[in-house]
Amino acid sequence: MSTTETNWESFEQKISAAGTIDELNAVDQELFSRKSGAMTKAMGGLKDLPELDKKNAAKDLNIWKKKLTEQIDAKHKEIQGSGDNDGIDITLELPNKERGHLHLIPEFIRKVEEVFGRMGFDTSYGPEIESEEMNFDFLNFAKDHAARDAQDVFMILDDAPAKNRNLLRAHTSPVQIRYMQQNEPPFRMICPGKVYRKDADATHSPMFHQFEGLMIGKNVTLGHMKAVMIQVVRELIDPEAEFRFRTGYFPFVEPGLEMDMMWRGDLTDSKEGKWLEIAGCGMVHPNVLKNVGVDPDIWQGFAFGFGVERMIMIKQQIPDLRSMYEGDLRFLKQF
Ligand code: PHE
Repeated sequence: MSTTETNWESFEQKISAAGTIDELNAVDQELFSRKSGAMTKAMGGLKDLPELDKKNAAKDLNIWKKKLTEQIDAKHKEIQGSGDNDGIDITLELPNKERGHLHLIPEFIRKVEEVFGRMGFDTSYGPEIESEEMNFDFLNFAKDHAARDAQDVFMILDDAPAKNRNLLRAHTSPVQIRYMQQNEPPFRMICPGKVYRKDADATHSPMFHQFEGLMIGKNVTLGHMKAVMIQVVRELIDPEAEFRFRTGYFPFVEPGLEMDMMWRGDLTDSKEGKWLEIAGCGMVHPNVLKNVGVDPDIWQGFAFGFGVERMIMIKQQIPDLRSMYEGDLRFLKQF
């Protein structure tokens, strides 16, 4: 076959039709393979042509050779992606990589620490196994107070003396004691953590989270307490949050109050919503200050203890607090 008879245009079509590197390599072989490539043969055939035709034919062939080589190179880049990106097509849409997030309880507690941090509160932690003394006595609970009942508290059966048994702390209030024993007033601190009580239903769990707050100074009043609590509830739950304060009794505060918030997550029972207790609070009892060596004639202040799960229930309108512990991704992925 003479050079002029080869249909080079058909090779151009084959190159542009190639969709994969293999298909392109096949065309490349057809053209340039050392033994049977069409171009190789055509080039080899030049020597048999008469001198006059040889020159023109060679010129013609060289033009095609250059053109087809360039087209193969261009196609190669097109298939593999631009050479600048090492074959990675940066315009390609990759499936979104699934990224997890913190569980809603630790996430909420981080926010608590952040909000109080901005108000100058220190964060402190205490152990979950406490002595009866720390959980009750230092906090001004009478020896026969009903809250000490083993029906309500998880007692630990170990070698601790009968008058000061170990237990799973029933509230974060013992951390107030630890903090005041270790620091000098004035105090401004919060202490989040797990607490344990023998309780289980839609709004109670045997293990739940609280964060305690303590602020002691020379002129700290109940007004300051309400201002701090209201600010925190608005920042953490909702600026429009509905709440109320009621009087309440806790042996370690005087006067004592409870803060309730409106919960509309219970769709079966009441469409109107329900007041849910979210915090106990009050002015720290002078006996508690005395117990830790702080002079109540100089220092005074407030304490509060919020229930974390309940705050989340209200924020997210969750019907049952227990769904926070089940580890069901269909629930957790909603947040
Ligand atoms: N410790 C109380 C409870 O768990 C809450 C509380 C904290 C009340 C601080 C007053 C002051 O119910």
